[in-house]
Amino acid sequence: MKPIQVGLLGIGTVGSGTFHVLQRNQQEIQGRAGRGIEITMVADLDVERAMRIVGPDVQVVNDARAVIANPEIDIVVELIGGYGIAKALVLEAIAAGKHVVTANKALLAVHGTEIFAAASAKGVMVAFEAAVAGGIPIIKALREGLTANRIQWIAGIINGTTNFILSEMRDKGLDFDVALKEAQALGYAEADPTFDIEGVDAAHKITLMSAIAFGIPVQFDKAYVEGITKLGAADIKYAEQLGYRIKLLGIAKRRLPDATHRADGIELRVHPTLVPAKRLIANVEGAMNAVMAHGDAVGTTLYYGKGAGSEPTASAVIADLVDITRLHTADAAQRVPPLAFQPGAMRNTPVLPMGEVFTSYYLRLRVADEAGVLARVTGLLAEAGINIDAVLQREADEVSGEAATQTDVIILTHDCMEAKMDEALARMQALPTVLQPITRIRKEELA
Ligand code: HSE
Repeated sequence: MKPIQVGLLGIGTVGSGTFHVLQRNQQEIQGRAGRGIEITMVADLDVERAMRIVGPDVQVVNDARAVIANPEIDIVVELIGGYGIAKALVLEAIAAGKHVVTANKALLAVHGTEIFAAASAKGVMVAFEAAVAGGIPIIKALREGLTANRIQWIAGIINGTTNFILSEMRDKGLDFDVALKEAQALGYAEADPTFDIEGVDAAHKITLMSAIAFGIPVQFDKAYVEGITKLGAADIKYAEQLGYRIKLLGIAKRRLPDATHRADGIELRVHPTLVPAKRLIANVEGAMNAVMAHGDAVGTTLYYGKGAGSEPTASAVIADLVDITRLHTADAAQRVPPLAFQPGAMRNTPVLPMGEVFTSYYLRLRVADEAGVLARVTGLLAEAGINIDAVLQREADEVSGEAATQTDVIILTHDCMEAKMDEALARMQALPTVLQPITRIRKEELA
């Protein structure tokens, strides 16, 4: 049978990896797919560079629309990124009856509802394994491997750049700015690292996973997003002393109505998180990714691997190409739905505002070292109904660069509603003996 024809839009790091892995493993891939898979056309603005990568047998153009217009092309792989031209090209490819493979988490997290609806109406597939956690087949695992389960929660280290920075901060006692510069020098962080360090990239990814896990539409605009830029070396050190590590986690959690929670809902959030040091995920270091998913039948599962890079991401792109090759002649109703649930079975369970999130906390207060200060602080927590789990006070001489009249008080709390914590924090901050802005980091036991 004639190989299925693939057109690449963009041949940078991931595109060239896809080309090389397809060539290198073509026999095995064909044996699995039941048919050859060939990249026969590439669009890239740098035509000469693209030609050097793919050689003379592949047609290279500088106009992506020429790929979409080519009737021989069955699958368009979008590797341009961003929401702009990539969105127009994906929708045009779908309208032209092409199946689409994309690594573009930003596009799907923001415009996924429109794109999946267009694909469904046209009877084509949109596959996006490479959009979340690079080479880890987490989309496949959530959508198919865990299909028996009612997923309760997902928590993932899904941004390698920030995990590298946090690992360096912990290992070498560096402050954020220094660790970021080091990550940039080593090529782990981009010149403009905003999307990574502010948590936006992780929020795109957890938004996609939340849709698959809970059968809700992709709703990036409802996600709470907090990055790692305000983290200090001191907090990483104190967390360590309390038996925790700080990781930037993407969290999606199902909350059921009970005596505390009036309604059901989904928590969807990205923020630095204290995780018990003994959890496997707390020991995921450097640029690696890991995702935990907890299902009612399977219990807790953990997936680990490279979240970026040329061939790890190509591995995910090619897995999608194989899936499409196997299924493209199947009736659309027999294919796996892109978000796991059949369109008619999607739910409108609301994504909860951050004030309704239920979690525990690490607080660090720089206070005047005077009698009664701790009592006043803990009194305000008690008044808000917040239960304290542990308190640590550092001796004044351990607080770097300050006179012995100040001290750091670190408090771990049990779970409470975020709105209650906001109220208590505002009242604590107003105490004249609290000398600096209070640091608040959320904590998850992931048990
Ligand atoms: N910039 C991402 C990361 C990789 O640092 O993990 C692509 O999503």
